[in-house]
Amino acid sequence: MIVALNNKCNLKKDEYLEYINQLDSISSSSQLIICPTFLNVGMKEVHNVKLGAQNVSAKEQGAHTGEVSSDQLKSYGVQYTIVGHSERRESQKETNAEVHEKLVRLFEQDITPILCIGESLEERQANQVEKVLEEELTTAIEGLTEEQKERLIIAYEPIWAIGTGVIPTNEEIRDVFLFIKKYLPTSKILYGGSANDENIDTLKEIKEIDGYLLGGLSLKIEKLKVFLSKCE
Ligand code: 13P
Repeated sequence: MIVALNNKCNLKKDEYLEYINQLDSISSSSQLIICPTFLNVGMKEVHNVKLGAQNVSAKEQGAHTGEVSSDQLKSYGVQYTIVGHSERRESQKETNAEVHEKLVRLFEQDITPILCIGESLEERQANQVEKVLEEELTTAIEGLTEEQKERLIIAYEPIWAIGTGVIPTNEEIRDVFLFIKKYLPTSKILYGGSANDENIDTLKEIKEIDGYLLGGLSLKIEKLKVFLSKCE
């Protein structure tokens, strides 16, 4: 399993140092990827944990105040980067076209993107799940080579499940995963949205799931350990 930890905008410097010391002590057969806030990227390597980032600029290095470019991420040892998280699509008005540019920038630097897609509750209730996911997927992956598509990791994160404690049924998740596989048959697909040390018992029945993108649980080391042990 791939288990990516999205710290979001959490953990001050000292807190992060303490956190990664604890992370260092975890032994798991899953591939852990830590995605800290930019300031904590490159702080310290963690044994057996790959380094990720939560975002990247759609532009190359240059006069773009406040941005972080893919070659800068690369120089800090970043191997994975979350792209198109719904929180950024919402608050930064990130478009599918920008998301596509970000994927291109990452592949230029040989960094594996973790592309987030997912519908809102209103969209699900209006039977628009496939329409939304198709739009998010097709624009993002347009023009990518077969090799890049194979390497791309998708994170299905229904917006209504993020931080709410509510998750879709196994059938709903399986339906979406099979839909994604129509476009990307060989990509790894993660589930994200309130995944925790309790509902993992149910989620792990879904054999199509290649891993998880964890938000809240990434910050709770003891519960994370339980989650990882149940993943095995
Ligand atoms: P939660 O696990 O806190 O619901 O967050 C999921 C998420 O947004 C990960 O990117």
